[in-house]
Amino acid sequence: MSILGADAVDAAAPFGRLVVNAGDRVTPLARDRAAELGVEIVEAAPSSPRVPGAPSAVPAAPSAPRGSLPRVDLSARGALPSPPVPALFRRGAPYPGLRGRSTPAAPSAGSRTPPAAGGGRVARVTVVGAGNVGTHAAMRLAETDLVNEVVLVDVVEGLARGVALDLTHAAGLLGFASRIRGESSIAAAGRSDYTIITAGRPRQPGMSRTDLTATNAEIVGTLAEAVGRISPDGVIVVVTNPLDEMTELAWRRSGLPETHVIGMAGLLDSARFQALAALASDGRADAVSGIALGSHGDEMVFPSSQARIGSDTASARLGDRFAATVDRARNSGAEVVGLLGKGSAFITPGLAAARMVESMIRGDGALLSATVRPHGEYGIDGVYVGLPVRLARAGLAEIVTLPLEAAETVALREAAAKIRVRVSELPAAVMGG
Ligand code: LAC
Repeated sequence: MSILGADAVDAAAPFGRLVVNAGDRVTPLARDRAAELGVEIVEAAPSSPRVPGAPSAVPAAPSAPRGSLPRVDLSARGALPSPPVPALFRRGAPYPGLRGRSTPAAPSAGSRTPPAAGGGRVARVTVVGAGNVGTHAAMRLAETDLVNEVVLVDVVEGLARGVALDLTHAAGLLGFASRIRGESSIAAAGRSDYTIITAGRPRQPGMSRTDLTATNAEIVGTLAEAVGRISPDGVIVVVTNPLDEMTELAWRRSGLPETHVIGMAGLLDSARFQALAALASDGRADAVSGIALGSHGDEMVFPSSQARIGSDTASARLGDRFAATVDRARNSGAEVVGLLGKGSAFITPGLAAARMVESMIRGDGALLSATVRPHGEYGIDGVYVGLPVRLARAGLAEIVTLPLEAAETVALREAAAKIRVRVSELPAAVMGG
């Protein structure tokens, strides 16, 4: 069963018809949207192949060849792209933006798993670290029902198996068929299409993300090497802090192509801005758009040129409160750590990591922020930094050139320069020589 939201209707609008499978649920908002756009909702004939979560009227999206990175310069065309969509929530159903995006993914050259009929399923996602972030990522991934098997891995004996069993018990409540397994090593998890690395020490009150470098570099380096060996065609999503440095480290130690190693942070920071701007404007978070770039930390760059609340620019709507809202988003991780007193934020970080994997599986082409390694885009070369991207089945499909203002581009380059310095300070032994 899939829940089809308004986004599914939007995707089907050019075809005038949204074809749903028997048992799929169409949200009330999606029905309103269909009426608004004149999209007919029809049930697939029983003999039609089952289409997981996808209206069959929508053709498959082309997949990017492995390792290739088409460059799309929207500023050159003077066209504003569709607004960045870090939205995790939409009206009418739990996260239909996540499950309702329904353009089926075509198999990529790098994927070993043929998608099920209609595309959109993968065999295995492994989540390393069965702490709070890993648990929320796994839960969200199971809930999408796009993955045959979600494997949780944790070195703490029994933890991953316990969480996996607990999550297995939710299958009827959440309506998923994915199998959930817990293991104590990546090798036991087996070859995976996607591996989310959340393992490492979280921040404690008073710590910066950089304070975690030495401890987490050991953990992430060893894990990335193992993932590269066990899942040479897979994609790694890094969540461990300090995020930018750990993503570069994971890339180098894994031996995977740059396009297959991506960091999660910009989507989290963008979601935080959405939520905080909604509070500040007494509106809904899904009416806010904006994209957080740069580093996951002090050098987060939040281009005001790209931020909207409804049809207004966010800076016009929020006035004096715009800068304060951006600052609060930048410092939200520390704010949560301070309140929890132990450990770091986990709900939105886990959901954001799962959202990235979902975007890749579905090939929904959402514009989102991720930590990737540019080659000349925004004047930055060869260092992991948060940029606007589109993802595809095999990882990074493109770095999108948004029409930023000059000062915003300068700030982005400065953020990249600072990350480069921190990366250069990591011991050569940890970086793999
Ligand atoms: C945060 C951690 C996950 O920002 O970096 O909450």
